[in-house]
Amino acid sequence: MKEKTSRVSAEELALQEKYCARIRAYWMEQGRTPSAFVDTYGCQQNEADSETLRGLLLNCGYTMTDTEEGADCVIFNTCAIRQHAESRVLGNLGALVHTQRRHPEQKIFICGCMMGEESVQEKIKHSYHHVSGGFNTHHLHRFPELLYKVLTGKKRLFFVEDDAGVIAEGLPRMRSGNLKAWVSIMYGCNNFCSYCIVPYVRGRERSRLPQDVIAEVKDLIAKGYKDITLLGQNVNSYGKDLEEKMDFADLLETLATLDGDFLLRFMTSHPRDASEKLFDVMAKYPKIAKQLHLPFQSGNDRVLKAMNRHYDSARYRALIAYAKKVMPQLVLTSDVIVGFPGETEEEFMDTLRLVEEVGYDALFTFIFSPRPGTPAAKMDDPTPKEEKNRRFDLLVDTQNRISEEKHRAYVGKTFRVLVDGKDGDSLTARTEGGRLCRFAGAEELVGNYVNLKITHSTTWSLVGELVGKEG
Ligand code: SAH
Ligand code: SF4
Ligand code: F3S
Repeated sequence: MKEKTSRVSAEELALQEKYCARIRAYWMEQGRTPSAFVDTYGCQQNEADSETLRGLLLNCGYTMTDTEEGADCVIFNTCAIRQHAESRVLGNLGALVHTQRRHPEQKIFICGCMMGEESVQEKIKHSYHHVSGGFNTHHLHRFPELLYKVLTGKKRLFFVEDDAGVIAEGLPRMRSGNLKAWVSIMYGCNNFCSYCIVPYVRGRERSRLPQDVIAEVKDLIAKGYKDITLLGQNVNSYGKDLEEKMDFADLLETLATLDGDFLLRFMTSHPRDASEKLFDVMAKYPKIAKQLHLPFQSGNDRVLKAMNRHYDSARYRALIAYAKKVMPQLVLTSDVIVGFPGETEEEFMDTLRLVEEVGYDALFTFIFSPRPGTPAAKMDDPTPKEEKNRRFDLLVDTQNRISEEKHRAYVGKTFRVLVDGKDGDSLTARTEGGRLCRFAGAEELVGNYVNLKITHSTTWSLVGELVGKEG
């Protein structure tokens, strides 16, 4: 089978590198070092893209700031998943008129998932004149070209042509931390869940070559990263577009056998193609965190069908049962949508029952938000907003009680945790399953594994005391 995924050519990447050099020369001539602020909305995929944008900006001679005030370049990397996310971006983008007035040289760009929507592109072009340009996710690697042309041409410019999507390897990356890292293993999505805008704005599913992923992970381990999360909208379909016969479980297994002291995580798994083989690999290797984010969206089969999810609640329950059997210590999280068009009270109760039955450690709950252009946005939706809110609150209350119970079970036990930061007077750490812990200790412990005995718990976190370093 020929590979279906197209990759950005070496010539194109070299051209972008030339634009970086030209931008550096431009600022040299201006006699000062420019500054840039990249603001990220949305999911880890966008966080990862923002790290690449910062890498490109560094390569263009910019320094990073953490405020739009006074920055020569501001980029909003946006999310389109729900209406609320879009409204927030547009509100904040509107407010940049004032920051730009105080610093007229400021160039403002918008990118990410919202720029994959034609209606948003039009709105930005016609109503947000202070925005200098924009690009969708397919043109991220061309940002140096866009920036150079805007800086020197004094014209607004948009790279928003639609594309099935390409993969650009070898772009510079400015990572946000030195302990935890994101590694995108694939881009796009082919699932077309009926409520979701991602496949429209991020293009078709395409996998990075295994050797590129392996090289990146090896490099991270060598640099001392200890917590590595593999990213994709549906990691279980990794490799389907590759010539080489390698699925996600194979890739994970290869990475889990690399030398070094690190933990691997991944998200997101889709129940349609999550496999027992994957859970066996997770169970077998100590370097794979026993943590699984497996979104079910609804516990009702009619709703799941209308969502185009391609599994039913029985299949989902069977997957969870198998995963728990081979990994009794598994920490489980999930996404749920409340108030999908036409969801009845009884159908919602199926969701609630599933939540009670599975006993998630945490849940990400959303009220359905119609996204223009998706099939669900056209479906009849007679349920009043107040009713959806009531269901949502009931679900959240139920989950909070369960999370609290789950956390209470940690009390009195000792866990090996990775200390990842400081928050006020306490240090923060994560268990292997990703649960947040707080404890008193010296700042030098950040970056190390310690043994924590859990003394208290809340709905959201665990409190512990140091038992000893390393475990
Ligand atoms: N690819 C991931 C999810 C990405 S979006 C997966 O399939 O699991 C993250 C979550 O946002 C989804 O799991 C879903 O619960 C929620 N979501 C997506 N579209 C939505 C919409 N239109 N309204 C409300 N929630 C939505
Ligand atoms: Fe959206 Fe479904 Fe793809 Fe997830 S799998 S990104 S919910 S279309
Ligand atoms: Fe949002 Fe795009 Fe992620 S729509 S959730 S930033 S893939």
